[in-house]
Amino acid sequence: MKKLLLIPTLMFSFSSVNAYTQGERIEDMQKMAQAMQDIQAGFFYNNLDIVKDGVKTLKETVVKIGPTSEEITDKDVFERWLRNNVKMTKRIKSKITRRADDIEERFADNDPRQALQAYERIAGECLKCHVELRKW
Ligand code: HEC
Repeated sequence: MKKLLLIPTLMFSFSSVNAYTQGERIEDMQKMAQAMQDIQAGFFYNNLDIVKDGVKTLKETVVKIGPTSEEITDKDVFERWLRNNVKMTKRIKSKITRRADDIEERFADNDPRQALQAYERIAGECLKCHVELRKW
């Protein structure tokens, strides 16, 4: 009985502590799109600081992405998300973080080609999520 009561309590506190709105998620997405543009500009202007700034923003933002509180309280959407998307989302997010580190390392190492390749892989991960998970 106690266990049964604990679950809704946990879900409730999770959703109220991390109240993540759709507006915030859209803002985070736009931040990441801007970070990607900044990184690209850094490549073309051969400016490591611009690349670093973009990488930093991208890494700080990607960790926040997830279902909105509304989706969590909407039982159907949340369950679908749990079933299909948690693992994949985690994997995509950690790949983006790792590739972002690659960009910075490679670019600092005077290897812009490898940096660009990591950049393209990130763009691929963004699209992967959009194509497969945007049904949230
Ligand atoms: C884990 C899944 C996921 C990942 C990873 C992801 N996105 Fe998104 N993206 C979404 C979802 C979901 C929306 C729709 C947001 C909404 O309306 O709630 C979205 C919307 C967007 C939008 C449109 C925002 C608007 O103004 O309506 C942009 C731009 C965007 N993403 C950029 C990116 C970029 C750039 C990356 C990679 C660095 C990325 N996204 C990675 C799920 C993801």
